[in-house]
Amino acid sequence: MFSSIYQGKKVLVTGNTGFKGSWLTVWLLSLGADVYGLSDGVPSDPAMFDVLDLRHRITYFERDVSDLDAVKSVVDEVQPDFIFHLAAQPIVRTSYVDPVATLKINILGTAHILEAARQANRPCNIVMITSDKAYDNVEWVWGYRETDRLGGKDPYSASKGAAELVIKTYYHSYFKLPESKVRVVSVRAGNVVGGGDWAANRLVPDCFRQWGIGRSVEIREPEATRPWQHVMEALGGYLRLGQQLHERPELNGESYNFGPNMEENFSVRALLEALRNHWEFDSIEEPVHYVENKSFHEAGLLKLNCDKALFDLKWRTILSIDELARLTASWYFHFYRNPNCDMFALTRDQLEEYTLLAAERHAVWTDAVSK
Ligand SMILES: NC(=O)c1ccc[n+]([C@@H]2O[C@H](COP(=O)([O-])OP(=O)(O)OC[C@H]3O[C@@H](n4cnc5c(N)ncnc54)[C@H](O)[C@@H]3O)[C@@H](O)[C@H]2O)c1
Repeated sequence: MFSSIYQGKKVLVTGNTGFKGSWLTVWLLSLGADVYGLSDGVPSDPAMFDVLDLRHRITYFERDVSDLDAVKSVVDEVQPDFIFHLAAQPIVRTSYVDPVATLKINILGTAHILEAARQANRPCNIVMITSDKAYDNVEWVWGYRETDRLGGKDPYSASKGAAELVIKTYYHSYFKLPESKVRVVSVRAGNVVGGGDWAANRLVPDCFRQWGIGRSVEIREPEATRPWQHVMEALGGYLRLGQQLHERPELNGESYNFGPNMEENFSVRALLEALRNHWEFDSIEEPVHYVENKSFHEAGLLKLNCDKALFDLKWRTILSIDELARLTASWYFHFYRNPNCDMFALTRDQLEEYTLLAAERHAVWTDAVSK
């Protein structure tokens, strides 16, 4: 897989205690990487990081990305071959409550990772995770392309748009110079779902938190569409891009969207209906109540055009919405209803199943098909 590029490599994952960071950690461990984590703590209770006991499977630094000296000391100590930067305040609602903290963590945190790598100037491939919300969302029907205008009306989106500008300036000012040993790319993915997310104010975690204890859930904005994808799909893209950045210097400074085909943008309602088909409700009559809520602005229509990832990286999503729902519901079902389940093994099994499906569906990164 991924041309075995991660085998024996030192990989620093920031935001490793979070949802995506935990899945990425398990995947990197199964690829034979030496995994280091940097986060300011564990963001939820429960958290996948704790449930899978990842603290004892990697080298973990509890540090704040807003602290440049702390970030530099970790990068100097680890001397990573790859960095995946995921640490962020990632929730739109929280960004309205504390805009300054969101801007600080997401913009300065990005600058600090890049600055630490610049000062170390060791060979290092950096994949910076921003968001589809980095685009100036004008609510048009077309998919956003990597060359479209950045922006963001709410503080979270603005912080991600600004993080993209920071990445660009580090590329143009430093990393594109011949003496630079650092390469950087940015990735913009839409909403990811999957087992193990317990972030507050997110659709899928909100559902399973309630369904897990036998309660129904209230859902706002049921007709909003998002480029939903399983977390394994986006992470497969990040790992593919890291591998390609290592092998192809011309990718340095590029940005990529990772999301489903544009016709696979589903509404909140469609996702919820798919998920509930894979859950057993013992006592609730109506597991979902749909309500409208216009009290804060969150863009309704947002599609990504992922042609560039397909063309350059031969990456595309492979799961149907039903497969996405089955894998997601099954993870939470085992967590809530099967207390003896080894959730680390279950997560690894889901990654194996996904890889097998990807190989059957001719995904190049599996190394099962000719390039
Ligand atoms: N989950 C999604 O649907 C989604 C969609 C688009 C983009 N993203 C982006 O992907 C990344 C990961 O998201 P997630 O869903 O795993 O979020 P998460 O909330 O589960 O994890 C966030 C991680 O960042 C860490 N963190 C927060 N503030 C920090 C600080 N000051 N210093 C160090 N670490 C800090 C947390 O401890 C945690 O490990 C984020 O950059 C997010 O913006 C996520």
